Amino acid sequence: SAAEKGGYDYFMLKEIAEQPKAVADTLLGRIDLAGNLCLDEVRIPASVLREVTKVVIVACGTAYHAGMIAKYAIEHWTRIPCETELASEFRYRDPILDQRTLVIAISQSGETMDTLMALRHAREQGAKVLAICNTNGSTIPRESDAVLYTHAGPEVAVASTKAFLTQLVACYLVALYLGQVRGTKWGDEILSVIRELSEIATQVDEVLETMEPVRELARTLADKNTVLFLGRHVGFPVALEGALKLKELAYMHAEGFAAGELKHGPIALIEQDVPVVVVVPSPRGRSVLHDKIVSNIQEIRARGARTIVIAERGDASVAPYADHLIEIPVTPTLLQPLVATVPLQVFACELATARGNEVDQPRNLAKSVTVE
Ligand code: G6P
Repeated sequence: SAAEKGGYDYFMLKEIAEQPKAVADTLLGRIDLAGNLCLDEVRIPASVLREVTKVVIVACGTAYHAGMIAKYAIEHWTRIPCETELASEFRYRDPILDQRTLVIAISQSGETMDTLMALRHAREQGAKVLAICNTNGSTIPRESDAVLYTHAGPEVAVASTKAFLTQLVACYLVALYLGQVRGTKWGDEILSVIRELSEIATQVDEVLETMEPVRELARTLADKNTVLFLGRHVGFPVALEGALKLKELAYMHAEGFAAGELKHGPIALIEQDVPVVVVVPSPRGRSVLHDKIVSNIQEIRARGARTIVIAERGDASVAPYADHLIEIPVTPTLLQPLVATVPLQVFACELATARGNEVDQPRNLAKSVTVE
């Protein structure tokens, strides 16, 4: 009913709007301004976490993209090798796991069969399993050694939005916690990132305030057949997530690529007027990547692409090559997905609406897939 949707036309719009609160609620009580982390819920003892030699993340769909981003954060802050794998592929290739492997299973519903089977397999091999889940008492947390709940509140729309942002928050918390417990040389960075996390809900809100041009743009693309997405580093999974949203909601052909791979194939797809969304890393931090992606934008634009550029506010270097510029707040590099994903959600939702699709219940999809 309209009341359940809180005055919005769709649950998805309501859930997009709830993201600042969902992010804040997921951080609540878990970080403080002194840079402390409190994750008592992660009942796996610090002594066990110090012995972990490998982290393996398993998930499906949007949760898998959160896991891909988590890999960058975990390896950077903890120096523990981390792999992220689609849960449906994981157990069938006979993965190498032991008591010193930490498996992280990410699932909004906690009922996804592929993810559940992957975690059962991991536990049979003696690995410890930490669930990141949005649904209290669901099967995946019940069968795990520990759980860190995301506090997104119920997510009704099939396409995941607020659950994704809170999965990212939970992944960052786990990465920072592992880093702190194990004492890496990134100690100072960890402290500053914890402080910056406390600002992130406000920054997500700022993004939401500036989405009207994104909606206008989406409406002009309603008759396109293809949209491509490019990103690098943590922007690569963001590109994949942007493409997934468009497939799910707009039923358009959409593909995400690592921008560095452009020259190895995808650039052949570029022709006049193909919309290409590019997620640009911060010009600070890993600035080499920034400069490389600016070259990519020039290359595709020279071949006719219509460039839709998501870049940090104040990044003047991209403006000359952007047919459409979407500015996002300044964040630490690893946290950028929290603000960069939001315009892609709004974009897909508006395109779906413009194409007359059912936003909350896309064809052929289910919110929770309880078969393998
Ligand atoms: C389904 C949904 C996706 C979701 C995926 C994983 O395919 O349509 O939106 O990302 O399942 O769901 P989970 O509940 O495990 O996060």
